Amino acid sequence: MRTNALHLCVPRLRIALPVDSHRIRGALKGAIAIYPGSFDPPTNGHLDLIERGSKLFEKLIVSVVRNPDKTQPLFTVEERTDMLAALTQPWKNVVIDSFEGLLVDYARRLGARALLRGIRAISDYEYELQMALMNRKLQPELETVFMMPAEKYSYLSSRLIKDVFQLGGSVRGLVPPLVEQRLHRKVNGTRPRLVRKTGK
Ligand code: PNS
Repeated sequence: MRTNALHLCVPRLRIALPVDSHRIRGALKGAIAIYPGSFDPPTNGHLDLIERGSKLFEKLIVSVVRNPDKTQPLFTVEERTDMLAALTQPWKNVVIDSFEGLLVDYARRLGARALLRGIRAISDYEYELQMALMNRKLQPELETVFMMPAEKYSYLSSRLIKDVFQLGGSVRGLVPPLVEQRLHRKVNGTRPRLVRKTGK
């Protein structure tokens, strides 16, 4: 029988461990993950997670849910995908998309192996656990991977950003400048302030 055993040398211990090469290759190489969400609007916490996910998976699809049942969003799906596309330019393995219907069906169509979700605090856990287990029930091969954003973003949510901004508070440093501009345009009806280099 042909084995795929490689030997992993651990010089300090002077031993060679048999390692199944399928397991090495089968790990995250080529893995497509989906980071689904509302992203209404994208925050620095979302971007933090996207950066972490892009390092772990070969391809990360950030996908905005088109959900007619949800409460009225502030930004249209197109406005959100447009912002996300601009904000994720630095990560070449990140793709922006949108979906409707069951997430597991969408994941199957794309051949995704994992769903990426952020957990900020214990309060997120119950909702996330329910969703992860339901998705596992619907499609057992699809794993949900949880990652934690940087602590400085652990209290951030799109809902809080909208509340604070709409009531006149500052969201600087909590969302990218592009999102702040779009919030101004959406809520105050002002054109985004462009920083022009005039050379003067
Ligand atoms: O950012 P959100 O609003 O917390 O994201 C929720 C999202 C989009 C992940 C969830 O609502 C979802 O998966 N919607 C798609 C419909 C679906 O598959 N529902 C069953 C999930 S258990």
